Amino acid sequence: MEDDILSYSLADFQYNDNPDVLAPPEDFEKWINNPRISASFSFFEQQLLTAPKASTEILSNIDHKKRKVINLTSYNYLGLSSHPEVIQAVIEGVKKYGLSASGAPLLSGTYDLHVKFARMLADFKQKEDCILYSSGLGGNYGAIQGILRKNDYFVLDEKCHKSLVDGGLLSGARMLFFEHNNIRSLGMMLEKAKGKRTLVAVEGVYSMDGDLVKLPEIVKVCESYNARIYIDEAHSTLMFGENGRGVAEHFGLEEKMGVSFGTLSKSFGGVGGFVCSNAKIIRYLKCYSSPFNFSCAPSPPVVAGLIKALEVATRDSNLRDKLWKNVKYFKKQLLDLNLDLGGTESQVIPIIIGPSGEKLFKMAAEVQKRGLFLQPVDFPAVPANARRFRISVSSQLTREEIDQACNIIEDVIAKGLKK
Ligand SMILES: Cc1ncc(COP(=O)(O)O)c(C=O)c1O
Repeated sequence: MEDDILSYSLADFQYNDNPDVLAPPEDFEKWINNPRISASFSFFEQQLLTAPKASTEILSNIDHKKRKVINLTSYNYLGLSSHPEVIQAVIEGVKKYGLSASGAPLLSGTYDLHVKFARMLADFKQKEDCILYSSGLGGNYGAIQGILRKNDYFVLDEKCHKSLVDGGLLSGARMLFFEHNNIRSLGMMLEKAKGKRTLVAVEGVYSMDGDLVKLPEIVKVCESYNARIYIDEAHSTLMFGENGRGVAEHFGLEEKMGVSFGTLSKSFGGVGGFVCSNAKIIRYLKCYSSPFNFSCAPSPPVVAGLIKALEVATRDSNLRDKLWKNVKYFKKQLLDLNLDLGGTESQVIPIIIGPSGEKLFKMAAEVQKRGLFLQPVDFPAVPANARRFRISVSSQLTREEIDQACNIIEDVIAKGLKK
């Protein structure tokens, strides 16, 4: 292992036969303590010292210095996390309700704010009802585990988020994966599930590649097999579609979505998750969805902020327009540098580096020292031959910040790739 330490990854240490159940595998300890591996891990859990705005400050794990950085890594796509009206709503919320809901929703954790916000979200997504969760991950777990049963089929795009995969495992349903956005492959899986209760999971925007679901084709094949669709719009709600309702709106296919999931931690700038669907299944979910009925309800002041965030983001298209202007400008600059941006069609823009983890982490340290907060993404989160940086464009970025970021990307990444 010492000789080829860099050829190992987190994909290799899930099996654990250490006799002490509270000890990791011995090889894992050896691996993670190797200086080259621990250097790559130093990019994790770096501390932000101010709000996740376009310009922020971090305490770097690389050289333990405080550093002002242009932030290309947070999911605060519309800047709502620190929007003045949102902050004011949170302050008023915390004064009135305190910090915690102090109870699970069915017993003592439901406040007027939760009911109001769930109604607003259901109306926004044009569904009959909505259930709120304290996290996006919990929402996907809870909805899938609450809807599917042992003899059902859960058919997922292979690039679906871990929360959907884990929700499927919890449900006990038979799980089948289809090749990413490949309609033929989906058809083959649906053929296997023929005649069974089947739910197909897709994402509006895929979070590592920034490409869109091929929804029109997927709807067509699902309808022919009587399969229902669950769309995760974590990275598309408030951004796609004429009214910001997401990729389903963008394609004019909202009515065909059986379930519309969203997270509140990305464009909404808060934390939590929500699931919109028909009123009967939402009522059923409230009885059988563990992350809902066995967990504390979302913090009321956060919900107060989220209500305001939804109002701000939907009262006009200003924030969305700014975001797409930035995406267009940023993308053009990057393409002019001849960088490989994969198939991005959204505010998530990967810069694909290739198979060398060493190159990726060397560049990552350098861009950070030059003033960019741009995190590397390594295997197994992405394929081993397509390690990358992943830019999350925000409406808050100014032209100057984008230009400055592109100068650093050119010097470090574009030139580094030519070496
Ligand atoms: C596609 C997708 N779904 C669900 C989640 C979970 O959301 P949260 O981070 O709000 O728990 C994420 C988070 O990154 C995601 O990318």
